[in-house]
Amino acid sequence: MAFSKEIYEARRARIEKAMGGGLLLFLGNGIASFNYPDNNYQFRQDSTFLYFFGLDYEGLAAVIDIDNNKTIVFGDELTIDDIIWTGVQPTIAEKCAAVGVTETLPMSELANYINAAKSKKQPIHFIPPYRGHTILWLQELLGVPVNTAAGDAFVAGMPVATPSLEMCYNVADMRNHKASEEIAEIEKAINITVKMHCKAVQMVQPGMNEKDIAAAVMEVALREGYYYSFPTIATSHGQTLHNHGYIHILNDGDLLLLDAGAENEMHYAGDLTTTMPVGADYTSRQKDVYNVLINSYKTATTMIRPGITYREVHVAVWAKIAEGLKALGLMKGDAMEAAEAGAVAMFMPHGLGHMMGMDVHDMENYGEVYVGYPRGAQKDSRFGFRSLRLGRTLEPGFVFTVEPGIYFIPELIDQWKAAGKFSDFICYDKLEAWKDFGGMRNEEDYLITETGSRHLGLRKPVDIEEILACKNGTFTPYE
Ligand code: GLY
Ligand code: MN
Repeated sequence: MAFSKEIYEARRARIEKAMGGGLLLFLGNGIASFNYPDNNYQFRQDSTFLYFFGLDYEGLAAVIDIDNNKTIVFGDELTIDDIIWTGVQPTIAEKCAAVGVTETLPMSELANYINAAKSKKQPIHFIPPYRGHTILWLQELLGVPVNTAAGDAFVAGMPVATPSLEMCYNVADMRNHKASEEIAEIEKAINITVKMHCKAVQMVQPGMNEKDIAAAVMEVALREGYYYSFPTIATSHGQTLHNHGYIHILNDGDLLLLDAGAENEMHYAGDLTTTMPVGADYTSRQKDVYNVLINSYKTATTMIRPGITYREVHVAVWAKIAEGLKALGLMKGDAMEAAEAGAVAMFMPHGLGHMMGMDVHDMENYGEVYVGYPRGAQKDSRFGFRSLRLGRTLEPGFVFTVEPGIYFIPELIDQWKAAGKFSDFICYDKLEAWKDFGGMRNEEDYLITETGSRHLGLRKPVDIEEILACKNGTFTPYE
């Protein structure tokens, strides 16, 4: 599936104009093996390649040679051996015509084309590679070792080839501003993601295993013809932020944290998190913390609009959490001071959210600072702040997650307590009794509009009453 060819033509024209010259090199993804050559992971095309060429097939590369006004896709036709195992496909020329590319060449011609560019000392721009195969391929084509972090574009004679920072910034400028057809695809992915979450809330019961939930949630995506935008997190140990183990039995009184998303046929992502009780209801202690969490979430959703920085929103969320935890006797002092100092990172060590598009953490291979921060900016390197993937001023067209969490991480509590860290703000004596609490997070996806923001997709259950209604089968996702 692809958008109309005019969309890809317009995107390629925009990047040509923004870059102004040089040769842009795009290497598509191949099939990746997981234990022997013919046993493969599901094919996933590179998102930058998809964005400019819409060709969801393995074994392709492309150049936009701005200096010579040429756009060429390189690839080989299927042989009869390929067809026997994988079936027929359109020819490369037919596939390319559908996305507005008229010139195609066999893959063996790519090295010749790059060598000619090198001999003319044309700057060669490419996006940071993230797969070993692509790094080796680039090394072979360019004839020098390849860096994975962005910097100066490669010109023949340089001892290493560095991905092009200019290309990262220019492509991120385009991909950060989602067009209406992209937003429609994202909302389709989110709506399936909402179904995944409702399924988990409805089915979870004491005695089940985390893998029962993970399997059922992923089944929802697969049955819709979708895939997952990242490995599902379904755990009663939500304080471990990326807990992919599925090893725990779920008991009455436990929380289940589900962080799961679908990726649709056009490879746009949804990303939601719901924290639900395993038994009939949250415990009163869980309700207290859940209400703090949802208040902080609503603080964020009422603040987001064009012109505000996401860092400001993140700090305001931390302050709201500090205020709520103060009421529970777990923090003390001025809530905003605690937030600005970084003390609330004890309870929420991750950032408030990230850009989302074709990649669930959109364009994170470019370097998150080049996507989520203004040109030339550095990230704040302090604990907690450095995990904020999106910190820049929000602009219309940005799509991102809002995902505050509150966690009680015993190892972090012990370490900070021993170091006396932020003891003006954190009530360590009280925290001892909370080390078995676990963690909770609520995550939804938003678009910045000209005047404010829009919640994307149907609404999943969020408030306690909605979660309990969903468990009882009386909640319907709504606009
Ligand atoms: N939903 C997974 C993440 O944002 O890291
Ligand atoms: Mn997320």
